[in-house]
Amino acid sequence: MRETSPPGDLPRILLDWYDVHARSMPWRTGPAERKAGVLPDPYRVWLSEIMLQQTTVATVRDYFARFVARWPTVADLAAAEDADVMGEWAGLGYYARARNLLKCARAVVDRHGGAFPADHDALLALPGIGPYTAAAVASIAFDLPYTVLDGNVERVMARLHDIHTPLPAAKPALMARAAELTPRDRPGDYAQAVMDLGATICTPKSPACGICPWRTPCAARAEGTAPLLPMKTPKKPKPVRHGTLYLAQRTDGAWLLETRPEKGLLGGMLGWPGSDWHDIDTDRPEGTPPVDAEWRDLNGEVRHTFTHFHLILSIRTATVGMDAAAERGRFVTRSDFRPSDLPTVMRKAFDLSQAAALQSL
Ligand code: ADE
Repeated sequence: MRETSPPGDLPRILLDWYDVHARSMPWRTGPAERKAGVLPDPYRVWLSEIMLQQTTVATVRDYFARFVARWPTVADLAAAEDADVMGEWAGLGYYARARNLLKCARAVVDRHGGAFPADHDALLALPGIGPYTAAAVASIAFDLPYTVLDGNVERVMARLHDIHTPLPAAKPALMARAAELTPRDRPGDYAQAVMDLGATICTPKSPACGICPWRTPCAARAEGTAPLLPMKTPKKPKPVRHGTLYLAQRTDGAWLLETRPEKGLLGGMLGWPGSDWHDIDTDRPEGTPPVDAEWRDLNGEVRHTFTHFHLILSIRTATVGMDAAAERGRFVTRSDFRPSDLPTVMRKAFDLSQAAALQSL
């Protein structure tokens, strides 16, 4: 006969596992310290949670280290120049997160005197903080009993309860199941424990059910359905868009760049001037070059995938004189130009131009 655990035991079983297996992360306070009453810095929890949305822990570690070294407190971040923050964020993607990050830091200073509020609703009212982040900061930073539901937790709940309704329709049911389990004792550790379980054992493919602390109560394990869950409604294929970027370098080495408009994709980020991006394949959009020059087509193209479409960009390059008058953008001197300030798609265009320049030597 299968052993069963009363539902009240489930959080305790997972917390016992977490006490031994918690992953160490620079924004975390480990279970032993938390039991001794030491909670993590809410600024670090919030910053890590914003960075971790759509991005892996491995990628976030370096960005997180650079951010907290440069801006150790939320007040430091609030006082930063927008362009510096966007530059440090470059490469992490989903750039609205960075714009909202700054808005939120400034709101924490203006509304709360530079300390994140220990209150779920006040957190939720801050810019860029939605239900997930409010629950994560409330539970992890303040040990308030709020339920965190991210992709890992959804998968764990779908399996624990053998829920076959596909995502996203299953979200409310998964949230209800996750909320039932959230304990009043150690909710912050518990939130991180479910995430760690999903990230290390209850993984999307080949879950390690044999060593899972919840292997006995897990309904999907009993049914043999764990690797199939959660079900997902098939996504529509992404359309392909096309466009052109113009990379102009002045004879002194300065590059012609522009800060993209706040609204829209890559808003507020530095980039190469270019055409709009369209869904057509014939007559690739060329737009208007930003400066009069003898433009050369670069061999090869830049491919990049965004959330809702694939993008293919043709690249044109030119060298222009010191008297060049650009209709768009501004020349950034060689010493001020850091390729790492560019979002990934713009960085790919730069890398391609550099590879082509090397080949032509
Ligand atoms: N993913 C997002 N937030 C996390 C956290 N606090 N711990 C582990 N993985 C996470």
